[in-house]
Amino acid sequence: MTYDFDTIIPRRGTGNIKYDRRPELDPFWVADMDFASAPEITAALIERAKHPIYGYAQAHEGVIEATLQYLTSRHGLTIQASQLVWLGGLVPALSLAVKAFCQPGDAVMTCTPSYPPFLNVHHDGAKIDLISIPHVNVDGQWTLDFAAMEASITAKTRLFLLSNPQNPLGRVFTRSELILLAEFCQRHNLILVSDEIHCDLIFNETLTPHVCGHSLPSEFLDRIITLLSPSKTYNIAGIGIAYALITDDALKRRFIAARGHTQSEINTFGYYAAEAAYRHGEPWRQQLLAYLSKNQETMHAYLTEKAPQLIVNHNEATYLTWIDCRGLGLENPALHFEKEAGLFLSDGTFFGVPGHVRFNFGCPRAHLLQGLEKMVNVLSLS
Ligand SMILES: Cc1ncc(COP(=O)(O)O)c(C=O)c1O
Repeated sequence: MTYDFDTIIPRRGTGNIKYDRRPELDPFWVADMDFASAPEITAALIERAKHPIYGYAQAHEGVIEATLQYLTSRHGLTIQASQLVWLGGLVPALSLAVKAFCQPGDAVMTCTPSYPPFLNVHHDGAKIDLISIPHVNVDGQWTLDFAAMEASITAKTRLFLLSNPQNPLGRVFTRSELILLAEFCQRHNLILVSDEIHCDLIFNETLTPHVCGHSLPSEFLDRIITLLSPSKTYNIAGIGIAYALITDDALKRRFIAARGHTQSEINTFGYYAAEAAYRHGEPWRQQLLAYLSKNQETMHAYLTEKAPQLIVNHNEATYLTWIDCRGLGLENPALHFEKEAGLFLSDGTFFGVPGHVRFNFGCPRAHLLQGLEKMVNVLSLS
């Protein structure tokens, strides 16, 4: 079956953040895509909706089986159902990790640019500090700056928050980088929270395979929490489904205890969407990846020719790209593109690095080209 990623589906007025927050702007910001989700997921949701009782849900056998199967076939993991902690989203999990493992005066470490909640979840605990270390670009490739991390770590640092693949740099970290990171965490007694929400959005797995936190050597697993979800890949983020993999019992108990009564029960549709994604979504995902990869090439070719002042990152994964706009000499490039071109882009300031924007290319190619044209048309106004 061939899936359609070209049709522009109107979204305004459907109660979505991307289009309805600033309806006057053309949105290329928040991380959701303008593609219809896999029809197999829609069918599963309709099927579940036909049963007219929507009471409190729990993970049913089908979603547990499909998830364990996914973890085996995709990540080579043998996991027990009891090692999955179901969640309504990954961001709450980041916050729970802060509450579970940090006391007042402790610190959380992460690297910038970074998905904004990584820079803010420490506020969910009382008096927790943030240590943020810039990623470094070595020979054209973004990586972790272990020397700077060593220089900045404190005895009070408890957690390391990792985004892999990295949002917004689109980098897929290698096994050796991850082992160095796990060793760093072990040396400094940190819990490693590995947010892998984008791990099924890698363009070329032969070149850049995903290494799951839980496929690192077993000596590290008592300090690793891996966070996963089909939500980004299958464009079902509004349904709210995610899970943490925690194979160490003591770690799991502390994480779960931090939930208290702060987490609502998980949406029944989330479980059914996740099951359908993992059971039936693979052909759709493969076609999506081919489409996104072509979008990235199109964007690069267009901006390289028409906007040499911009440095556009080359992504190994994700549909979110990081654009260095410092060559424009503007104080706030996102605001410039908003005011002059009517575009809604993500401002790098919120990712810890001003002078940049994050551009979401997860949309039909015709719309992508319209957005790029609007950007390029206002470059000379800077
Ligand atoms: C790295 C990363 N983590 C988490 C999320 C959001 O997770 P959730 O919607 O499940 O809270 C995003 C969304 O863009 C993300 O990029």
